[in-house]
Amino acid sequence: MREQTAFRARQTKLLHMLKPGSIALIPAGSLATRSNDTEFPFRQDSQFKYLLGLEEHDALLVLSNLDGKMRTILFCQEKNALAELWSGKRIGVERAKELFNADEAYPHANWKEKLAELLVGHKSLYMDFFSHDTFFTQVKSLLYQLSLTKKRKEPSPSEFVNLAPLLGRLRLIKDSNEIEFMKRAAEITNRAHRGAMALAKAGKNEKDINAAMEYLFQRDGGGNAYESIVAGGENALVLHYIENDCALRDGDLILIDAGAQFNLYASDVSRTFPVSGKFSKEQRELYQLVLDAQKSCIQMVGPGKTLGEIHAEAGKVLLQGLIELGILTGTLEEHQKDDSLKRYYPHGTSHWLGLDVHDNGPYRDSKGEEIGLAPGMVLTVEPGLYFQLDDDTVPSKYKGIGIRIEDDILVTEKGYENLTAAIPKEIKEVEEACASEVTLFC
Ligand code: GLY
Ligand code: MN
Ligand code: MN
Repeated sequence: MREQTAFRARQTKLLHMLKPGSIALIPAGSLATRSNDTEFPFRQDSQFKYLLGLEEHDALLVLSNLDGKMRTILFCQEKNALAELWSGKRIGVERAKELFNADEAYPHANWKEKLAELLVGHKSLYMDFFSHDTFFTQVKSLLYQLSLTKKRKEPSPSEFVNLAPLLGRLRLIKDSNEIEFMKRAAEITNRAHRGAMALAKAGKNEKDINAAMEYLFQRDGGGNAYESIVAGGENALVLHYIENDCALRDGDLILIDAGAQFNLYASDVSRTFPVSGKFSKEQRELYQLVLDAQKSCIQMVGPGKTLGEIHAEAGKVLLQGLIELGILTGTLEEHQKDDSLKRYYPHGTSHWLGLDVHDNGPYRDSKGEEIGLAPGMVLTVEPGLYFQLDDDTVPSKYKGIGIRIEDDILVTEKGYENLTAAIPKEIKEVEEACASEVTLFC
């Protein structure tokens, strides 16, 4: 499917979800100041990106469902030679209308006046309530002005509806374009993780590996999908460690949680491997246990299953293994009822993945029931084990070890496809990848 066609199809789906007589406003992302008059690199808003491929700020998508007529209206920056000299090319209003097949398009510079006209006649207004506070305030002010003209025959919106849950439901099921982008992100991530395995050794620093991965992400795609975690030794025990600036030591493991984005679609992958290239006996025991849990969870994935069931499976395999290793005493059934695993495995097993690394899809339906998996959904499966240095319940040989293994799984009609299966994770494959050579600049 052409990407432009996919955007129009998503807009149409959303338009059909709106109550008749509604208008939906989806603003583009904004520039964020980094320091004085410099900005962070622009990142398009995910809701806007899902509905329209325009990579510009100062833009607004308006969807109107009024009197049985569905309209797509676009606001974007006008062409301006001086502004484009400083900040790069703009698509311009006419070209944007044509390229994105919009019914109407207007300059963003006077969006307030035009939007005030467009709002008239609609009863309900849909916006994402969880973002764009400044824009929301400006829209409320327009609505207030309109409400003062009480004698006007046509209504102006008096009901606000949150758009986020609607878009969350749509974004949960990826179309073929989105799946293609996620596969591209996974390929880039594969090259970067293989590169990391080949490069890491004692004497190198976490920042060397981090920089090499960033380079590979940028060379082959659109950079990282989130701040990478490159954690040698006990740094892996800090779940959101992003300092990435310590020396790597022989005898330690290194946990890397890093994924590329492609066309803003994320991958999210964790691998853990020995700095020396060879797992010790204790590392191997724990690694194999996490790997068994991860593989057992992945095999469960298919239509109808829930993330809760997958998490319970991770817990079962990990608990059984911890009992066999003598780290826990008691029975599996006892520990399934208590909280003992949380001490060593404090996070969830899965989340949705897409334009956002923690994608915005719902986890429960309107009755509070867990959402069942369906073809087109993409989730992570990422069990781990973390043994704190000061935890006296842990035999000293395991203290300081943190392991997580994470893949990106697409739900299919028959079960699943592991989008990140090519990234080594079996012990033999990982040791081979650690022993291999990599050429960064080619
Ligand atoms: N990289 C973030 C996560 O795994 O959820
Ligand atoms: Mn994840
Ligand atoms: Mn991750």
